[in-house]
Amino acid sequence: MRERPRRLRGSAALRALVRETALEPNHLLLPMFVRDVDAPEAISTMPGVVQHSFESLRKAAFEAKAAGVGGLVLFGVPDSRDPQGSEALHADGILTRAVREVREAVGPGFPVIADVCLDEFTDHGHCGVLDSEGRVDNDATIDRYARMAVLLAASGSDVVGLSGMMDGQVGVVRDALDASGHADTLILAYASKYASALYGPFREAVRSRLEGDRRTYQQDPSNRRESRREVRLDIEQGADIVMVKPATMYLDIVSDARAATDVPIAAYVVSGEYAMVEAAAASGAIDRRAAILELHTSVRRAGADVICTYWATELAAWL
Ligand code: PBG
Repeated sequence: MRERPRRLRGSAALRALVRETALEPNHLLLPMFVRDVDAPEAISTMPGVVQHSFESLRKAAFEAKAAGVGGLVLFGVPDSRDPQGSEALHADGILTRAVREVREAVGPGFPVIADVCLDEFTDHGHCGVLDSEGRVDNDATIDRYARMAVLLAASGSDVVGLSGMMDGQVGVVRDALDASGHADTLILAYASKYASALYGPFREAVRSRLEGDRRTYQQDPSNRRESRREVRLDIEQGADIVMVKPATMYLDIVSDARAATDVPIAAYVVSGEYAMVEAAAASGAIDRRAAILELHTSVRRAGADVICTYWATELAAWL
């Protein structure tokens, strides 16, 4: 026998010496929910995650930064919804206020990513406005995304996260940002986002009541090649970072994206991935900490530079 791979595993020091993948706090983004409430409210399917009040949001944002987390992703939970998602375009809406509060808490230069999408704001729960036949109107929707992005950039968000999966959304938002003096605002494009069963807890978190499904705009979980096209289109339109979502059931997609482009790749460990691990750990089936570390290591190993994860602050403290 000439080759004995086990030699390299003989001690902790040797294993560390040849370890291929590093998981570091600065690669992590923490998604946060904010609502105009007096005290944070629990999300039953996501133990440990809350709908923040403005006060708890500021505190948690500061703690995440102090723990070394690389940035924050903000989702607003409005009190009122309508078919157009009007609140998303109010200068004093839930999300613009959240961005201002968080910016104050973390100071300048720390990445604050505001979500640009309408599903939290529409009463039907779709990511866009509907046409007269009740279909999601792509082009009317991306005009709204463009206005929303400019508003959020003006509020202090240095990155906008485009999660709606409308065609052409990156290009119109890039143009609108450039035309309004926000050429330095980055675009994190949810380039490859699947119509996944794993977003269930998120919908509770933002109190969205979706009628129907998102299969006319989010991708079919059966498709792999299609993601290369989605990633290419978003980069052509000016995406600074491209994201794959969900993460762990889509590591082939992360790996393809890594191979296809030189721009940074992000992956979103979504609410259902969080809920599954927490439920399995709570039942005693798996070692919680080991499972969380392994899960995130696998996403980095597949090629993600950045990981968006509800465990970001806790994970950062461990690393
Ligand atoms: C849409 C959006 C969703 C998530 C992030 N942005 C929900 C959806 O597409 O249905 C889900 C994230 C998660 O499940 O953690 N704005």
